Amino acid sequence: MIDIHCHIIPNTDDGAKDLDSSIAMGKAAQKAGYNAIIATSHYIIHDIENDYDEYRNNIKRLNDVYKENGIDVKVYNGNEVFFTNNITGLIKNKKVSTLSDSKYVLYEFPLFNKIVPLNAYDELNELQDAGYIPILAHPERYEFVQNNVDTLIPLIESGVLLQSNIGSAYGKYGKKVQKTLKLMLKKGMVHFLATDSHNTNTYENIDLAMKKIKKWNKNDERLQAILSNPEKVINNEKIDIWYPN
Ligand SMILES: [Fe+2]
Repeated sequence: MIDIHCHIIPNTDDGAKDLDSSIAMGKAAQKAGYNAIIATSHYIIHDIENDYDEYRNNIKRLNDVYKENGIDVKVYNGNEVFFTNNITGLIKNKKVSTLSDSKYVLYEFPLFNKIVPLNAYDELNELQDAGYIPILAHPERYEFVQNNVDTLIPLIESGVLLQSNIGSAYGKYGKKVQKTLKLMLKKGMVHFLATDSHNTNTYENIDLAMKKIKKWNKNDERLQAILSNPEKVINNEKIDIWYPN
């Protein structure tokens, strides 16, 4: 399995606090069945702006450490970009990395917005015009989605892919988030499942989460697509999307 959202690089954001934590996360990921992880440290303008080259070197170094420790998990380049103007510029100016240096870009909105940020569509169109494909992280955690999941429809129709957190399924972020993910799965609004791990917790609860996900997502073909889409990201291949029912 491939995890496309994980805060595994030591000392870069609110994820792994040191190398030991990164090693523990790698071991837990492998035990849970993952063999590849895209490192997606936060990039938040004026708050968390890791140096591009240094960050990518840290990813390389973590791969070496995993090899030395017999952890069979490959770590790829990536970032989770906090929504801002000119994400395209951040990519082109080598401030942030796309997922595995592909055309896929992981971004997040503020959690407590009552509506989709006003400039969202202009910004996302600009990204797409430049050849990138936006992936929105954990929609079920946003207040505007919890209030009405159908607010995701125009985003999907404009070409945004949606990545839900596996932890949302077992209640890691509370009942409201869990209920929202359940509805999103029923309506076919999930294109990826990832852990968004900041520590080992979600990796230790994958089975519990997957049981719930399988119960809520009755469409086997769609679940297979959800589970195979991460590989397409790593290989920079086209993803066929489906529209909500
Ligand atoms: Fe994240």
